Amino acid sequence: MRNVRIGVIGCAGRGKLADWAHQPGNGSEIVAGADIYPEQRQMFLDRYREKFNAQPAVYSDYREMIEKEQLDGVIVTSPDFLHEEHAVFALNHKIAVYLEKPIAISIESADRILEAAYRNRAKLVIGHNMRYMAFTRKMKEIIDQGVIGEVKAVWCRHFISYGGDAYYRDWHAVRKYSNSLLLQKGAHDIDIIHWLAGGRTVQVNGMGGLTVYDKLPRRPKGEERIKEGIQSVWKEEHFPATSQKDFYPEIEVEDINMINMRLTNGVFANYEQCHFAPDACRNYTVIGTKGRLENYGDYSPDSDIQVWTRRKDKFRLEGDITYRVNADDGNHGGADPQIVQSFVDALRGKYDVWSTPQAARYSVAAGCLGAESIRNGGGCYEVPALPDYLENFDFARAEEK
Ligand SMILES: NC(=O)c1ccc[n+]([C@@H]2O[C@H](COP(=O)([O-])OP(=O)(O)OC[C@H]3O[C@@H](n4cnc5c(N)ncnc54)[C@H](O)[C@@H]3O)[C@@H](O)[C@H]2O)c1
Repeated sequence: MRNVRIGVIGCAGRGKLADWAHQPGNGSEIVAGADIYPEQRQMFLDRYREKFNAQPAVYSDYREMIEKEQLDGVIVTSPDFLHEEHAVFALNHKIAVYLEKPIAISIESADRILEAAYRNRAKLVIGHNMRYMAFTRKMKEIIDQGVIGEVKAVWCRHFISYGGDAYYRDWHAVRKYSNSLLLQKGAHDIDIIHWLAGGRTVQVNGMGGLTVYDKLPRRPKGEERIKEGIQSVWKEEHFPATSQKDFYPEIEVEDINMINMRLTNGVFANYEQCHFAPDACRNYTVIGTKGRLENYGDYSPDSDIQVWTRRKDKFRLEGDITYRVNADDGNHGGADPQIVQSFVDALRGKYDVWSTPQAARYSVAAGCLGAESIRNGGGCYEVPALPDYLENFDFARAEEK
């Protein structure tokens, strides 16, 4: 069996995701990586040597990698503001792209990526791995079975304990690099809200602000980069947030975001995010005409979904039905190996991809306009629709159309 040849842009950090695609002898191989930082390239080489006894080629310039390596696919795990540049370059070379979420940091940028994939008939898969998590799949299944009737409201509260570690020490903290944490984090949940509700946002408004991280001690200008890699600054003792220091020299993105959404099918939804909570969990409530469901725990091993289907005029901690959810093996509750496998399968002509670039674009659109609303007085914004030819295109199968 020929191995499909895959390269990775952004070798460290999330770049480790590519390791799931390294299956020489089983149809796919990571043959090269590109990263502008020498120590990240070295980490990549060390990882492949120790983990796989392999020696991929490394490049400081992703364009050189794409032009030289005869790749079938590329996994783009670079920071959000580089997604368009990296994905469009590969798509223009007719190379299939797995692109991490958020697809882009503006609606226009997301649309240019979709256009490039469409124009070049190059496959495009976006890394919305939450669609592959056991608890979201179970919620979707319960809803599709009609257990709670017709969905009318979806509310998601998102508690993030590691906000200070992950988003206020590097590029994530600055609007020109990440736009808003409604994209970096929220794009996942807005996508899941759309998926569970069976619609997408047409109107959005929001409130929120920077309440904690802008007031804490920062690194001096000139020390923008954390050289040893982001993982080294994730520490459990970083609590409470107010005891922390050494943040990015510029802090711009809101640490509390709350948006309201009206969806195409009349469902009302909201998403609330806090970056200095003591615990980390996404808590969805979905209310239908015949019941309500809520997840207790998300992709941790011991989560469940409670469903209330009988009326009782008091609070009940336990629902009428409890669905135990066991996370699968592998990072992010098994979602990472599964979504990477679906990309590798698509490269090999087997199609079972559960996220779509259109959905990724609509989640980013709601996040971008939600951020605009938050920054401009809380007014309501209309989400522009995609043109029909992009709306209806099957991006995972692109070449075969
Ligand atoms: N789906 C998920 O669960 C998930 C989880 C984490 C991160 N992500 C996404 O993955 C992406 C990367 O996030 P991260 O936290 O690893 O970021 P990061 O800052 O650690 O960067 C990732 C890699 O890109 C490299 N890089 C930076 N600039 C580059 C350039 N110009 N050319 C080539 N490589 C470059 C960095 O050196 C690093 O190796 C982001 O888009 C993020 O949203 C997704």
